[in-house]
Amino acid sequence: MAERGSFGRLGFILAAVGSAIGLGNIWKFPYITYANDGGSFVLVYLIAILLIGAPIMFAELAIGRRTQLSAVPAFLTLGKGGPGGRVWGLVGGVGVAAGFVLLSYYAVIAGWTVYYFGRCLAWSLRGYDLEGPELGQLFGSFLADGSSQVTFQLIFMALTVGTVLLGVKQGIERVTRTLMPVLFLIMVIMVISSFWSPGFPEAIRFLFTPTEITPDGLLEAVGHSFFTLSLGMGAMITYGSYVSKQQSLPRSGLLICLLDTVIALMACVIMFSIIFSVPEAERATTFSKSATILFTTLPRMFYELPFGSILAPLFYLLVSFAALTSTISLLEVAVAYVIDSFGWARRKAAVVVGLGVAALGVPAALSLGASQALSSWAPLGPHAAGVFGVFDYTVSNWFLPVGGLLTAIFAGWVLKPEIFRSELEEGHGPFRLFLLTRLLLRFVAPVAILWILWAVIGGRSFA
Ligand code: PFF
Repeated sequence: MAERGSFGRLGFILAAVGSAIGLGNIWKFPYITYANDGGSFVLVYLIAILLIGAPIMFAELAIGRRTQLSAVPAFLTLGKGGPGGRVWGLVGGVGVAAGFVLLSYYAVIAGWTVYYFGRCLAWSLRGYDLEGPELGQLFGSFLADGSSQVTFQLIFMALTVGTVLLGVKQGIERVTRTLMPVLFLIMVIMVISSFWSPGFPEAIRFLFTPTEITPDGLLEAVGHSFFTLSLGMGAMITYGSYVSKQQSLPRSGLLICLLDTVIALMACVIMFSIIFSVPEAERATTFSKSATILFTTLPRMFYELPFGSILAPLFYLLVSFAALTSTISLLEVAVAYVIDSFGWARRKAAVVVGLGVAALGVPAALSLGASQALSSWAPLGPHAAGVFGVFDYTVSNWFLPVGGLLTAIFAGWVLKPEIFRSELEEGHGPFRLFLLTRLLLRFVAPVAILWILWAVIGGRSFA
């Protein structure tokens, strides 16, 4: 079998941070924060990252590095002989399936960012026509245009497969090492430029002043902490399996959580500063509390700001980069599984799995208006309409929370504490927070996640 790849020290951090930072930070977090009235929602989210996300992050990284295997064989190896035995392999299997489905529709949204990068570039060069087509309409007709949807989705899948097939060091590490610093730089430039926009003070107030929060808001904050940290489906197990024994897992894990959170907050500052710069009356009509702000409201607002014609394409380029470093990790989960479990060569695994994901993504891409049948398909009831909606509902509400729950139970109750501890201390030294971490994994995380699942069963939806 080919030699297993490995990351360099900084390479691992950047790849893992790249996986965590994605559409979840720049597209989803701002709109759910806005929909939940900021303040308290942000606070609950921060607490969820610290008390539930970080311990599960430690657990996934430790499981991966201990076994040097991807999700399915890693759970099988560590579960052997303990309660549940080989059944734990299924947890890895659910993760691989979740990654497969998530990537299929994530690449569709990622494709939109590439399209808007091109659009904004054209607007910046030719001049933005404020009297031109209304952005909501433009976005709607873009969504309903099946050939554009599929083309951009396939472009994105090709970039993803092209990176993964080059290998852990030559592909994943090289691409993330190049893109992540550029992403940070663009973010910093945009945050600094937002200091001067009239909406900046209101954006900060909105984010950090406590407000009322509904039970749905609480649940959504906890649920999003998995998605944003790439937890619950074996991505961090897979990346953990490429980390050297000299590296500290607790320090790396905390850094990943910290940078992911900082970028999510920066994305909010950038977007809300723009949105709050528009007069209230106009904001109310142009800005619906919906998932499409990034594409329907933001572009025009950019062009009303100083330097907007430079910032707009730059911003969509940044979102595309963030999405690419996440899609790479999503594909790697399934590719590493096929390599480890069936002995396939990396190139073959990347191309075959990539083609499978791309094929599954086509109906998702066509279910946004292009095909009537696919767009109205609703086997799960009114919560989720269309192939895209059904996929998102299933992954966000079921796969990721269940994957996170089982990972927490595995690390807290099944994995021998000596093994877990020694892995966390390898390359780190004594880990003083071990007992706390284990406590959070044994009790706090399972209870919080069961509460989410209970709410989902009761009819709530967080897609
Ligand atoms: N963390 C990514 C985001 O916030 O966009 C999404 C994601 C990537 C989830 C990889 C899960 C994963 F394995």
